[in-house]
Amino acid sequence: MKGIILAGGRATRLRPLTKITSKQLLPVYNKPMIYYPIQTLAKAGIKDILIIVAPEYSGQFLNLLGSGSEMGVKLSYEVQDEPRGLADAFIVGEKFIGEDNVTMILGDNIFDHDFTDNVVSFKSGARIFAKKVPDPERSGVVEFDKNYKVLSIVEKPEHPKSNYAIVGFYIYDNRVVKYAKSIKPSARGEIEIVDLHNEYLSRGELEVNIIEGMWEDAGTFDSLLRVNNIIAEKVKQGELK
Ligand code: DAU
Repeated sequence: MKGIILAGGRATRLRPLTKITSKQLLPVYNKPMIYYPIQTLAKAGIKDILIIVAPEYSGQFLNLLGSGSEMGVKLSYEVQDEPRGLADAFIVGEKFIGEDNVTMILGDNIFDHDFTDNVVSFKSGARIFAKKVPDPERSGVVEFDKNYKVLSIVEKPEHPKSNYAIVGFYIYDNRVVKYAKSIKPSARGEIEIVDLHNEYLSRGELEVNIIEGMWEDAGTFDSLLRVNNIIAEKVKQGELK
């Protein structure tokens, strides 16, 4: 299993914080944000990791993280010239993925869930993760039946069919590269991850796992502030370093 951290994009919602650096390098209490997705993958046993960055600040990631040896992982880097969508990660990352399965985590998603069992038990298809939230319309939303069979997935629906947000952690088999290449850009010009999931869903090969615990997408001023406070508290309680 390989790992990809998607850490590009323009982060216009966080201007002017992101005018001179990347969102994923902003502080989350005592560490740059990117440390958290690296640790989430490493904790799940995924140590061979590709970081996809935007061209503007690519050097800053390399200066900060280098080979990854200090964090006990092996890091590679690719530049995504334009933010062409989340599913573009599998085109940019094709060489890195090779013949393997791949887990992707979004560079601004912060978890305290331990994904080890979810990763180890993965065989084939696609596995997405959902968490019950009060404001599902801010996220991708998954609807499922009592046996956790996925019924629908919709990106930021006006009228969500469930309270389960799709979080930024995804596991795929090697076909993801082929499927990503076949997706046509949406009206907003992006290769949408929801189309990738619908491809697996139409084959009956999309699974959903529910996660508990902390999950934050640190992409807005409010969520960034919230996650800073949560991590500060955990460090002070001795739960985190
Ligand atoms: O955080 C979870 C949510 O992430 C999911 O619930 C949604 O289904 C999923 O689409 C995504 O929504 P966002 O609105 O957060 O997506 P955003 O466009 O902000 O991109 C997520 C991260 O990926 C962000 O840190 C920037 C990076 N990115 C994004 C795009 C479109 C790239 O590196 N390259 C890209 O081309």
